[in-house]
Amino acid sequence: MKMSEFAWFNGAIVPHQAADPSVASNTLHLGVAVFDGCMAYWNETRWNRHLLTKHLQRFVRGAALMDLHLPWEAEELEAGVDALLATLEPTTHYIRPIAYRTAPDVFFSVDQESTSACIFAVPVERDSDESYRCQLSPVERVRGQAIPATWKVSGAYANSYRCEQEARRAGFHTGVMLNAAGFICEASSSNLFFVDDGELVTPRLDGDTFPGLTRHLLIDQAHDAGTSVTERDIHPADLPSFDAAFLCGTLSEVRPISCIGDVEWRSAQNPVVRSVITRFREFTHR
Ligand SMILES: Cc1ncc(COP(=O)(O)O)c(C=O)c1O
Repeated sequence: MKMSEFAWFNGAIVPHQAADPSVASNTLHLGVAVFDGCMAYWNETRWNRHLLTKHLQRFVRGAALMDLHLPWEAEELEAGVDALLATLEPTTHYIRPIAYRTAPDVFFSVDQESTSACIFAVPVERDSDESYRCQLSPVERVRGQAIPATWKVSGAYANSYRCEQEARRAGFHTGVMLNAAGFICEASSSNLFFVDDGELVTPRLDGDTFPGLTRHLLIDQAHDAGTSVTERDIHPADLPSFDAAFLCGTLSEVRPISCIGDVEWRSAQNPVVRSVITRFREFTHR
């Protein structure tokens, strides 16, 4: 991974190494950190900071809920992203804000003095047409009651990591997790949609499923286009009845799914999936 040379760290642009935490920080030992992921699309002559305010509001809110109280509001962090963008090559970047503690303290203390925020960038591809092969994961989605899905706590992502690695070891691109009730929840870091007779179906927000901003955008766009969207419980036994499937998220954008386990689709050719992708790309290329 090619990380940006510079980062915004506690209010200033610095070489990214200046933001490193102590090896004994409880951020590292307990996973007490909160992050988010945003896209800055370079559209020929200017940046499209895709849904940036919403991402940063979610980030500041989640951090505070984990006792990582930041002295910056979302608007100030937005200015930090702009300062970072000014140091970057004009190409599409994934922007990662993270709130964490830098001081050595492996125990359960809340050390406000060392609570920090860093924003760095990674250049990424966009508009990939590659379909994803998904494993029906043996890894269960961590319950919202254990760690609320909306907070984006680093420690909780050991769950996504396990799902992803299990899938890759078995030859898939990613995994699809079930919740504790046995319903389809989401992929390791993307939400899921299915096509059923020209309409969209997606897992309902049951407290375990992450309410992704891309999911929300696609639902709004579908409604504007007159496509009906149903949010409901989906059982693995329902999968063969769908006509197509796709996943969505900030980094994955919108990706057709060619299989979940042994259920296969030609999702990349499905007209409803093609329309969703076209609408999404019109939005990100503005
Ligand atoms: C577990 C999980 N599900 C879904 C998503 C997709 O959310 P978004 O569209 O806000 O990137 C993410 C990414 O943040 C995620 O971490």
